[in-house]
Amino acid sequence: MTVEPGAGVFREVMGCFATGVAVVAGMGADGEPRGFTANAVTSVSLDPLLILISVGRSSSSLPALLDAEAFAVSFLRARDREVATRFAVGDRRSRFSQLPWRREVTGSPVLEDALAWLDCSLWKVVEAGDHQVLFGKVEACGLGEAGEPLLYYRGGFGVLGT
Ligand SMILES: Cc1cc2nc3c(=O)[nH]c(=O)nc-3n(C[C@H](O)[C@H](O)[C@H](O)COP(=O)(O)O)c2cc1C
Repeated sequence: MTVEPGAGVFREVMGCFATGVAVVAGMGADGEPRGFTANAVTSVSLDPLLILISVGRSSSSLPALLDAEAFAVSFLRARDREVATRFAVGDRRSRFSQLPWRREVTGSPVLEDALAWLDCSLWKVVEAGDHQVLFGKVEACGLGEAGEPLLYYRGGFGVLGT
């Protein structure tokens, strides 16, 4: 069935593209970590090592990423639904409270319990409608203890095999 493109159907169509779920984070000028839940995270290039994230213009975390010229991406585990919800709708000042994290090579905050993580310097910013696309050059990355990823599909969280 072909339908007239619009925001609603666009969301529905893109919702059929199952993704992982990540926390994207940077350090604010006040020395506090800032971060949000993201699934617009894509591998871009091997030489140099590049990824991209797409960040809404109204994101309160965006200035921290741009000012620090660096950000980190922590991939969430199947058990992290509460973390994903907290970083999407929870109070912005307390998202990191009681959640162990550390600063990595660029100084960006990485969740200690991440399934895997990337620490990036800001490589390029592209204006893209109501979002800004941030390309990150991977300065450090790593794997946590092996486990299942948290997934996002059709507007809800899921896990592999369900
Ligand atoms: C599964 C999921 C994926 C999301 N992906 C993105 C994303 O890639 N980019 C984005 O800007 N917001 C994304 N959001 C929305 C942000 O998490 C949400 O708007 C958050 O409150 C932004 O926080 P901030 O204003 O502190 O940056 C996503 C939300 C969910 C639940």
